[in-house]
Amino acid sequence: MHGSDTQREFDGSTVVVTGAGSGMGRVEARLLAARGATVWVTDVDGDAATAVADEIGHAGADARVARLDVTSAQSWNDLADAIGGDPVVGLVNNAGVSHRYGILDTTLEDWERVLAVNLSSVFLGMKTVAPLMTGGGSIVNISSIAGMLGYFAAGYGATKWGVRGLSKVGALEFAERGVRVNSVHPGLVDTPLLNSGSDVFVDESLRAVPAGRVASSEEVAEVVAFLLSPRSGYVSGTEIVVDGGLTSGGIYHRITSDLASARS
Ligand SMILES: NC(=O)c1ccc[n+]([C@@H]2O[C@H](COP(=O)([O-])OP(=O)(O)OC[C@H]3O[C@@H](n4cnc5c(N)ncnc54)[C@H](O)[C@@H]3O)[C@@H](O)[C@H]2O)c1
Repeated sequence: MHGSDTQREFDGSTVVVTGAGSGMGRVEARLLAARGATVWVTDVDGDAATAVADEIGHAGADARVARLDVTSAQSWNDLADAIGGDPVVGLVNNAGVSHRYGILDTTLEDWERVLAVNLSSVFLGMKTVAPLMTGGGSIVNISSIAGMLGYFAAGYGATKWGVRGLSKVGALEFAERGVRVNSVHPGLVDTPLLNSGSDVFVDESLRAVPAGRVASSEEVAEVVAFLLSPRSGYVSGTEIVVDGGLTSGGIYHRITSDLASARS
């Protein structure tokens, strides 16, 4: 497939992106709009969503904006009302929060907050938007490598595994509507969320990334665009990991690198 074939692949399509005011969501919204989609740029931070919608508009592409709190059924219903009768072709459930604490250090309040933002959001998003996909469509749920392996963060790990499982439920349930559902599992991506914690965490994690670097948001957005497009027409109910090789055995990358530096 040549670049030119994908350039306007979303012409005439309406797509919803959650958490689009920052990080990966912002880049996904911009990329999809640049390829012809009318993108609903949504975020709980309404000003951030408006700023991204403005950026898209200034670039000559098409964006709508809505303040959407993904944890609120009412907020999702308001979005559906705002979309009106337009058939929706794509949904990216991207909004999420980080929380790097184990079971013993996680309060029930934090557990419930992370569950609401990272997992109930995906349930509500699919429940609200799948019925609007009257001509078929594709849903991409953003999980994480934390949904591929054992992870040290209780709420984050549990929700990202939950997103992976719920995506498969959606893939089975919505197939008869012509709607595909898949999950994307980024590793370390250069966004405000990644950089909200300690540098030591990122630096130490990078030692286990065979690619030797973090991903750009654009590299994840390309995978999202592929999954939303007809190019992936027979891909449903599966995971795409975008992690520079981390979960393929990054521990051995770290060990062999350490041994090589000890020898030199
Ligand atoms: N950055 C990484 O390294 C990384 C790795 C794996 C997975 N992820 C996942 O990718 C997704 C995007 O992460 P990011 O790094 O771009 O984060 P980010 O913090 O840059 O952006 C997240 C956005 O979600 C919004 N948001 C938070 N709570 C919300 C709510 N209740 N309703 C609506 N929007 C809400 C925020 O306002 C923000 O704009 C998340 O699901 C995250 O778990 C990130």
